Amino acid sequence: MNKIFISPSILSANFSTLGKEIQNVLKAGADIIHFDAMDNHYVPNLTFGPIVLESIRRYPILAPIDVHIMAKPVDNLIPLFAKAGATSITIHPESTYHLDRTLDIIKENGCKVGLAINPSLSVNIIDNVIDKLDLILLMSVNPGFPAQKFILNTFKKIFEVKKKINSIEKKIYISVDGGVKFCHIQPLLRSGVNILVIGSYIFNNINSKSIIKKIKNEIKNFKNISIV
Ligand code: DX5
Ligand code: ZN
Repeated sequence: MNKIFISPSILSANFSTLGKEIQNVLKAGADIIHFDAMDNHYVPNLTFGPIVLESIRRYPILAPIDVHIMAKPVDNLIPLFAKAGATSITIHPESTYHLDRTLDIIKENGCKVGLAINPSLSVNIIDNVIDKLDLILLMSVNPGFPAQKFILNTFKKIFEVKKKINSIEKKIYISVDGGVKFCHIQPLLRSGVNILVIGSYIFNNINSKSIIKKIKNEIKNFKNISIV
């Protein structure tokens, strides 16, 4: 059975105590920190950049960090985020004219390579670059804001991506990002998702630790059910 990773999106965290917030969710059992970099151009919102990532690393936060870049142009930002401590960098195909080259830049900078697919975009976008990918992130909301409604069509896309991944040798993780709440966890795990990106459902709760524990339990339940 594959490991399922919990990936809290810090977009909904309290930025005045960011290091502590991240430490708390990691202590409670989260696996990968999800870092949403937005530019008010590719998406209509503005968040944080490499300097913030660098200070998170210095806190210190040693866990893997997936930097989800929603910025255009994107190529020049990749080395900056890599240097600041990104473990993986996930970009959107519409943020570059030359997707194949951009994916190479991520790898050349020593990071795992992620590609994000917006709700309206066909998963066929991965066909000519699939061998370069470590992670496919399916957006289950339109990018830009936390706490939006989960788009159910994502399940169809997970199925399609899974089929493509199964047809090649390489291990590629499937991540789902946006609007994920408790009720989505079992169906997502059954569909074959490996990484659950969850923002507001974790951080908008008074006790983010207990929410992580609840999610972990639900993952355990899934494993038990599927073994039977
Ligand atoms: C949306 C971001 C997501 C977002 C998820 O553009 O990419 O990572 O923070 O937050 P929730 O779980 O609140 O939808
Ligand atoms: Zn994200």
